[in-house]
Amino acid sequence: KKLFEDSVVKREDLFISSKLWSGNHAPEDVPEGIDTTLEDLQLEYLDLFLIHAPVRTNKGAIRTAENYIPLDVPATWGAMEKLYDSGKARAIGVSNFSCKRMEDLLAIARVTPAVNQVESHPGWQQMKLRELCRSKGVHLSAYSPLGRPGSPAFTGPSFLSNPIVVSIAEKLQRSPAQVALRWGLQVGQSVLPKSINETRIKENFNIFDWSIPEDLMSKFSEIPQIKTLRAEFVVHPQGIYKTVEDFWDGEI
Ligand code: A2P
Repeated sequence: KKLFEDSVVKREDLFISSKLWSGNHAPEDVPEGIDTTLEDLQLEYLDLFLIHAPVRTNKGAIRTAENYIPLDVPATWGAMEKLYDSGKARAIGVSNFSCKRMEDLLAIARVTPAVNQVESHPGWQQMKLRELCRSKGVHLSAYSPLGRPGSPAFTGPSFLSNPIVVSIAEKLQRSPAQVALRWGLQVGQSVLPKSINETRIKENFNIFDWSIPEDLMSKFSEIPQIKTLRAEFVVHPQGIYKTVEDFWDGEI
C-alpha cells in the first residue's frame, strides 16, 4: 500500500493471485472468501483467484482429513464465475486438479478456468496434464518448480542433483535451479519459485535471456519422475480420500 501511495509501483504493474480456502466452497461462502482476502491485502481486485485444492470442509472446520466433505465443484465454480463477472477476480482457476477433475470441470464451466496451478518441474513433468490444459486453453502454472529442495516434507532425492540436470547446467554455465526454471518456461508453464534469499531470488529471475537448446531439452525425458507433494495428509480411513491415489485420481 505504501509503495502504491508513493508511486513506486502501480497496481496494474503487479499480478496478484490468491486462493479460495477449503472451508469456503459453499457457493454462498465464496464471496466472503475473496472479500476477506481483498480486505487483508487492502486491494480492490485480484488478478487471479484459484480454488486451492479439491478439498472441502464445513465452514470454519479445521482442515484435517477426517473433516473433509464431498466436493460440489459445479456449485463452487458457479460462484467463482460470479466473482469473475463482478470484476473482483480478473481471472479464475483451480489448483491441484488432476486431468479427470479438469475434464469434469471443463464439461460444465461457463467461464473456462484460466489456470491450473500444480506441482511441476523436471522431476514431475505433468506431460499429460499440460497437454490437456494446452488443448483446452488453460494455462498450467507450476508451484514448487524446484521440487522443494530441503523441505522436511519431502526427503526423496532432489532432481537438482540428477546427473542429467547437473551436466546441462554445467554445459550452459547456469545453476541446476536456473535450468529447471528455464525448462519450465520452455515447456510453456509459468514458474513460481519460492525463496527468502536475495541472491537466490536474483538467480531465479535470471532465466529470460538464454535458452536450453533442443538437443538438451530432449534429455529431460530421461529424468526419473517423483512427485514431492503426494499429500498423504488428505488420507483418512473414515475420510473421503482413503488413499493418495483417490485424491489424485490415480495420476501419481
Ligand atoms: P530459500 O528460501 O532458502 O532460498 P520450491 O519453489 O520448488 O517449492 O522450492 C523452495 C525451496 O527452494 C526453498 O527452500 C528455497 O530455499 C529453495 N531455493 C529457492 N531458490 C533456489 C535456488 N536458486 N537454488 C537452490 N535452492 C533454492
